[in-house]
Amino acid sequence: MRKIHVFDTTLRDGEQSPGVHLTTDEKVKIALQLEKLGVDRIEAGFPASSPGEIVSVKEVSRVVKNASIAALSRANQKDIEAARDALKGAATPCLHIVLATSPIHRKYKLNMTKEQVLEAAESSIRYGKKYFNEIEFSCEDASRTEIEFLYEIVRTAIKAGATVVNLPDTVGYASPETFGHMFKQIKENVPGIEKILLSTHCHNDLGMATANTLAAIYNGVDQIEGTINGIGERAGNTAIEEVALALETRSDVYQAKTSLVLNEIYATSRMVSKMTGMMVQRNKAIVGDHAFSHESGIHQDGMLKEPTTYEIIRPETIGIASSTLVLGKHSGRHALKEKIKSMGFDLSKDEITAVFHEFKNLVDKKKYVVDEDIRALVDQQMVHDTE
Ligand code: KIV
Ligand code: ZN
Repeated sequence: MRKIHVFDTTLRDGEQSPGVHLTTDEKVKIALQLEKLGVDRIEAGFPASSPGEIVSVKEVSRVVKNASIAALSRANQKDIEAARDALKGAATPCLHIVLATSPIHRKYKLNMTKEQVLEAAESSIRYGKKYFNEIEFSCEDASRTEIEFLYEIVRTAIKAGATVVNLPDTVGYASPETFGHMFKQIKENVPGIEKILLSTHCHNDLGMATANTLAAIYNGVDQIEGTINGIGERAGNTAIEEVALALETRSDVYQAKTSLVLNEIYATSRMVSKMTGMMVQRNKAIVGDHAFSHESGIHQDGMLKEPTTYEIIRPETIGIASSTLVLGKHSGRHALKEKIKSMGFDLSKDEITAVFHEFKNLVDKKKYVVDEDIRALVDQQMVHDTE
């Protein structure tokens, strides 16, 4: 199995979710949990953006020892120096330089020619090399950049000393087909590409961040970037937990694996949700409340006979104790019987039939049936038996 490196940017791109602000203490707690989860690299922040950010990156660098720590920088000396100072205490520091490459960004944001972009990439990487062994260079908006220019800039970045080259889908514009093809072309046309880590970083504007990331893996990238719960700018980043579980579940397709400690995923998700105040959508893949809940009678019956009928991942894999059979309007007799048994009652077949009849009347009136409701139905049946 090929190893896929995980670059977690929950503390940088994730914190760019509108309304999210993490204190240094919260960043440190999340970073320690990410270390426990086994991510390879943690992007702790963007030191040039504020004095508080420098303090946070310094603290994360001081406490985390089993993951590399990255800090973001634009392609200029001032930003690089801020990152250098903030990352001083890190065991394995990494400078992450970002520079936009697409025609739209070159024209409207940077007001730079292609030649100027190439020159800024080269000089900033060479400057960073004075202080860092590890340098990641990101071609912002790569998915909307001319492919010939991408070859040129990736070649330049490698020559100047970048150890990771990241091609992001900054605005979530790519489709799995086009994005996968871009990586295939890069691999085929840039000499020396095998000497560095090729990385991807996707946004979810069209809901395709995970699919695009998997297409990139399928076409040979070595590193994926994302956040826990997929938080981040606008519609967010690739959800790391989704990619990790897709690789785990479909190793037949991707033949690749992360080194994440999968049973730390749920605890990490809860912590990030609590500290950022970003609720996890209930039906979100992997970590949503409903991801391992079953309501329909047909599904519940299948689950009780053999869980793989309706679950492709066991909840314990990500650190959830068990699946839930939700009792509601669509539930069947089998699930109700098991529920009654799990609550410690021993009812005969006829008693179950009677309780099931009352249960069906109740679920037409109530959205959620809780244990107290079941207990009341069973009690009512027992009173009836003694009459
Ligand atoms: O989305 C993006 O392009 C980024 C870069 C800094 C990698 O966040
Ligand atoms: Zn991003």
